Amino acid sequence: MKRSVYNTVEELLQQMNLSEKIGQMSQFAGLNTGQIGADSGQRAIEQEIRSGKCGSMICVGMTPEQIYEMQRIAVEESRLGIPLLFCQDVIHGYQTIFPITLAWACSFHMERITQAVSASAIEASAEGIMLAFSPMLDIARDPRWGRVMEGAGEDPCLAARIAAAQVNGYQGSGLREKGTVAACLKHFIGYSAAEGGREYNTTTIDDVTLYNTYMPPFAAGIKADAASVMSAFNCINGVAVSANKKILMHLLREKLEFGGVVISDYSGVEETIAHGCAQNRREAARKCIDAGLDIEMTSTCYLECAEELIRDGHLEEKQIDDIVRRILTLKYDLGIMAEPYGYLNEQKAEQMIFCPEHLNIARDMARESIVLLKNNSVLPLEKTQKLALIGPKGDSKDLLGNWQFSRYGDKTVTILEGLCHAGFDVTYEAGCGVDFEIENGLQEACELARKADVVLLALGEGSDMSGEACSRQEISVPSVQKKLAEEICKLKKPVILLLSNGRPLLLDWFHEHMDAIVETWFLGSQAGDAIADVLSGAYNPSGKLCMTFPRHQGQIPIYYNQFNTGRPQMDGSIGERFTSRYIDGSNRPLYQFGYGLSYTQFRYSDFSLDKTEMGEGGVLTAHVVVTNTGECDGVEIVQLYIRDQSASIVRPVKELKGFQRIALKAKESKIIEFALSKENLGFYNQDCEFICEPGIFRVMVGSSSDDSDLLSLEFVVK
Ligand code: NOJ
Repeated sequence: MKRSVYNTVEELLQQMNLSEKIGQMSQFAGLNTGQIGADSGQRAIEQEIRSGKCGSMICVGMTPEQIYEMQRIAVEESRLGIPLLFCQDVIHGYQTIFPITLAWACSFHMERITQAVSASAIEASAEGIMLAFSPMLDIARDPRWGRVMEGAGEDPCLAARIAAAQVNGYQGSGLREKGTVAACLKHFIGYSAAEGGREYNTTTIDDVTLYNTYMPPFAAGIKADAASVMSAFNCINGVAVSANKKILMHLLREKLEFGGVVISDYSGVEETIAHGCAQNRREAARKCIDAGLDIEMTSTCYLECAEELIRDGHLEEKQIDDIVRRILTLKYDLGIMAEPYGYLNEQKAEQMIFCPEHLNIARDMARESIVLLKNNSVLPLEKTQKLALIGPKGDSKDLLGNWQFSRYGDKTVTILEGLCHAGFDVTYEAGCGVDFEIENGLQEACELARKADVVLLALGEGSDMSGEACSRQEISVPSVQKKLAEEICKLKKPVILLLSNGRPLLLDWFHEHMDAIVETWFLGSQAGDAIADVLSGAYNPSGKLCMTFPRHQGQIPIYYNQFNTGRPQMDGSIGERFTSRYIDGSNRPLYQFGYGLSYTQFRYSDFSLDKTEMGEGGVLTAHVVVTNTGECDGVEIVQLYIRDQSASIVRPVKELKGFQRIALKAKESKIIEFALSKENLGFYNQDCEFICEPGIFRVMVGSSSDDSDLLSLEFVVK
């Protein structure tokens, strides 16, 4: 067997000709990615690999046997035998599917996130995947944008903690650890700020917002040692990110000290032409290489133009060498230079993929991700109650959400199955499809509902209504389902809405007419059982929203950590004319960040600070007593916010700075402690420097970001 046995990156680099170096910078699509762009997948891949023109592949749609074969060609038939790097989108599970990221963020459960991501890495790495295009770290302020389902919501502090939890899950104690994959932080940066929430649209983000809001999750992922970063599709402040030196060189490499590999998004290099940043493929290649973009995903501008650009003196070979060094270093770090097939392990795949242990994690995580939005004491249900389950999501397997490629989709536990497993007396009618009527559907659904004690309405979006290229102009429950809900409500039975969706929806009408609302998102392989756990009270819901639910579409973008404005609308001052408000509706969201109900109640008391002044290098400790005043055990997510009252740049009315997920038995109290340092109180100023300015700070603690749920104190920073 012919194979490269170079001991060091430098030794190998010296053997490589220019064409082979550029080959390492070129990533080919495997099969059927179904995406647009100048698709290198259409080229004769085997031949490209043989001639050293392909360094890595997206292996969505490829079987382990196909991965093996491509690797064999690279290792045995290319001149230097450099193994390929196989990458795939493993977003919220590989074969065992966990809740979508937006959902699991609502659990505020960092250990569980690491555990689930680690399970994904174990499964993916056994089938040849070496790098996951994840975590997705785009801060979400606009629910029209379909990709909010892939991220951790609107808060930089929570998203940063989740970023680190995910990187730890993927990479374990290091890339050499068996059962791990390299993480790829994406999409660097600002992609989610797309104007109008329209996918791939332009973004304009001032430095202060970029650094304080969009950057923290990436900083946390880099600190956790993520191996790679993906550049975003969008244009930011007039320059496409892939060709943007300020973003990729200065911000990513210099400021954030990222030393790993930067991969473009799908044909992102070529798309700089459509953006209007490059005249042609040659200029696209030059600008992106110059900006520090190491690997071109699927388009072929580097392959076609980079050699010539160097020969003509428009790029230096040293630039290419630096890039190739980073790519080869990653390959060495992954261990594939020594063991090119080390990520293919049939036995492990057989044993671990979709195994009971992973399914248990999926069920635990799914129930912890559910958010109870309303409950007129109709929940939890009694097993003696006769239930009518109605709606298109009731017996649907479409509960996995977008961005998954599981072969086990048909094993997804539906809501109906979950209720039956739990021993409920339940009958089912769809009533309508997600976005279409069913003949006699309404009548049959109403007939069934009439005979029941309680109606469960399982409504929501299809998986294909959120995710990439799924922006929506109207973020409502589809009208045909709303009509079904209206008809059911006329029967005057207790009605519980079970929502499956990939983004916050407009729920004003439902809030008024439903007796309970359970936000179940897309919960993954074990969705139905997890939902039944919550409905029966076997699990007391504990999730809190990681993204604001607007009351009206016109409020978007909407997020809790906004600025106060010079004319804030005071509570109840709707009639006050010249304040920051709408003349036709409230500023307030329907459900705020951090909100979520439980079957028990928690009381906050005795909030205190150990000092009222924080000096140089100081740490301040806050204490609060949290009591479960209800009749059943529960989990509360205790949230701590700050406000910097006055600073050289305006600071948000509230910023989450800490949270703790605590279990309290009925009637139990616990003293919860938070430590605050200047690190927590600081921010990036107009010169993009991180500082903490002296002044008065407010610190708030409670059960959601709404003032009415918070206790508050002040302290001074000297
Ligand atoms: C495009 C998406 O934006 C990105 O998130 C994904 O990783 C790539 N396609 C590869 O599938």
